Amino acid sequence: MKTRIGVVAVSDRASTGVYEDKGIPAICAFLDSCITSEYEYVTRLIPDEQSIISDTLVELADVEQCGLIVTTGGTGPALRDVTPEATEAICQKMLPGFGELMRQVSLHIVPTAILSRQSAGIRGTSLIINLPGKPSAIAECLVAVMPAVPDCISVIGGSAITLNDALGTYLPHSS
Ligand code: MTE
Repeated sequence: MKTRIGVVAVSDRASTGVYEDKGIPAICAFLDSCITSEYEYVTRLIPDEQSIISDTLVELADVEQCGLIVTTGGTGPALRDVTPEATEAICQKMLPGFGELMRQVSLHIVPTAILSRQSAGIRGTSLIINLPGKPSAIAECLVAVMPAVPDCISVIGGSAITLNDALGTYLPHSS
């Protein structure tokens, strides 16, 4: 059975056409490069409204039956950045290790990574991962946490995902 993967770009400006969304294509390009099992995308482009974000995540998890849902945007400290709050509100369990690892790798790339509240949580049999909005941050963050994703989805009873060996396992520097 094909795994359904939800891909959500959260941005006031991209969702109203002020600029083109580059987040959804960046997430799909990264996942296309590492997932070897069969899958299909369910995509959504929405504004930074907490209730809309929560409703979208619930729909992708409960109705569309997405085993993995990846969001981009709304993780910063600005007033309108509410993606982590919207995610936590509809998850049964949060997985702080995802955010910790993503911030750890990102701090090697940009000092402003300290501002990002990336996180991940579980709703039913869906794993939800929040990434920052900058398109270049998507691969920078996903490469670190992706090796843990198949195991996590398997443990929560979701749809099986397999990855190619090229991704490897991220090992943080000990120095
Ligand atoms: N993480 C990585 N890997 N690369 C980046 O360029 N940008 C940071 C941070 N994390 C960045 C990053 C910046 S500038 C901000 S404001 C926060 O993510 C939050 O971004 P968001 O509000 O668009 O989600």
